[in-house]
Amino acid sequence: MMESANRTPAKLGLLVLLYSSLLLNALLVARHFLLLEGSSPLGAASGNDDALSWTLQAAREAEAVAAAGCSGHGRVFLDGIVGEDGRPGCECNTCFEGPECSVRTPDCTVDADSGDPVFLEPYWMRHAAASAVVYSGWHRMSYRTTNGVFQSVELERAIKQLHRAVGNAVADDKHMVFATGSVQLINALIYALSPDSNAGATASVVATTPYYPSYRTQTVLFDGREYRWDGNTAIWANATSGNSSAGKDNIIEFVTSPNNPDALLRKPVVRGASAVVDHAYYWPHFTHIPAPADEDVMLFTISKVSGHASSRFGWALIRDEKVAKRADTYIQQSTLGGSRDTQLRMLKIIKLMLANLHGEEDIFRFGHDVMRAKWQKLNAVVSRSRRFSLQTIPPQYCTYFNKTREPSPAYAWVKCEREEDYDCSDVMLKAKIITRSGVWNDASSRYTRISLLKSQDDFDLLLERVTELVDAEKNNAAAAGSNSM
Ligand SMILES: Cc1ncc(COP(=O)(O)O)c(C=O)c1O
Repeated sequence: MMESANRTPAKLGLLVLLYSSLLLNALLVARHFLLLEGSSPLGAASGNDDALSWTLQAAREAEAVAAAGCSGHGRVFLDGIVGEDGRPGCECNTCFEGPECSVRTPDCTVDADSGDPVFLEPYWMRHAAASAVVYSGWHRMSYRTTNGVFQSVELERAIKQLHRAVGNAVADDKHMVFATGSVQLINALIYALSPDSNAGATASVVATTPYYPSYRTQTVLFDGREYRWDGNTAIWANATSGNSSAGKDNIIEFVTSPNNPDALLRKPVVRGASAVVDHAYYWPHFTHIPAPADEDVMLFTISKVSGHASSRFGWALIRDEKVAKRADTYIQQSTLGGSRDTQLRMLKIIKLMLANLHGEEDIFRFGHDVMRAKWQKLNAVVSRSRRFSLQTIPPQYCTYFNKTREPSPAYAWVKCEREEDYDCSDVMLKAKIITRSGVWNDASSRYTRISLLKSQDDFDLLLERVTELVDAEKNNAAAAGSNSM
């Protein structure tokens, strides 16, 4: 009795100590989160996942579609066609079908036509967390963004930082104009570099064969009074050589470097012309970078850097303020600036690329590895052929990788060597490969372009078909040889 009477006050004391310690801890934790809320623009959400509320449903939806495997031959997208189960279904890669894309389409025609940069999809799947963008329904509803302009100041900064870090362009002393894909900038720059409509002069828009066809098709489509498509540079390069200055002020020369379709680095050839140098592919996954580009007017697109062609985002770097203002006026008149949603996504994407440069997860290292492997495999097969040939690209020193790098072009520029194969894309089509005829590039139909930018599935099937084609050639040659004996 006595003993228990003595222990009761001791027990009470312990309990009081325990409860006051718990209370103190609770107060400290509460203070911690209150301080976080006060100090961070993200509020409690930055320190406490339980505080997430309206993002959860969207996050679950995004994760659910991303988790769908589609047998590794397709994808589910948030905006895919909704099936009977109320959910979007798999969208299969070419030559795969079935609800889970698990069935190979028999005797299928492979599509190596478009420059769709899906080869970078696996990179972004690896970086799903760091590249996801979440925002509310009321986020940036205005036409204008920070400081009342149409272009995100932070995005401009990030792009300039990317050029600096990669060393592919001198951007800091240039004006930057955003657009809905660099394709929108083609006509914007033609407008900006053409004489005033009341000057009565007409600029000639030209390019060297084989060139990216949109320079021609857009110029013809928009059919402006101040400019016209004037074809191949060959005549202009001759006309402006020597001392002749005729027409010099009124030529706008489009140059793609590295070139689409043949991947060669190019320079303007018409002396005195206003050159627009399209550097869509001047990034280390496609080419060596000998030095930062520093032309007066340069074009870039996110489509071929990060692979986000769907975002429709491109930019021009322009030295002259007046030219930049005119290009900007064009963009404002046609679209009131590029999509602010897109600019937000681009900011996230570019920041992640920047954070990973030169590391294990460098996008250029990843992209170069993928594209180099494709080129090597295709080359190995085509080099057995006497019927087909590819452009020659030597290994070259790259300032970004700080070493000599193996070639990794975006496109193979195929030549059909046999006289009777004058329509090379047709030869390919008969072998069940869709390519893009050189005629599009104002080149001979003996040439055709094979895109290497598409998915790994597309490439694997392409390689199968090209191998069949070359094997058939070898077998026929062997048969002909044995017949002649
Ligand atoms: C040389 C070149 N310039 C511009 C573009 C257009 O790119 P965007 O997707 O930004 O419109 C392409 C697309 O294939 C291209 O090859």
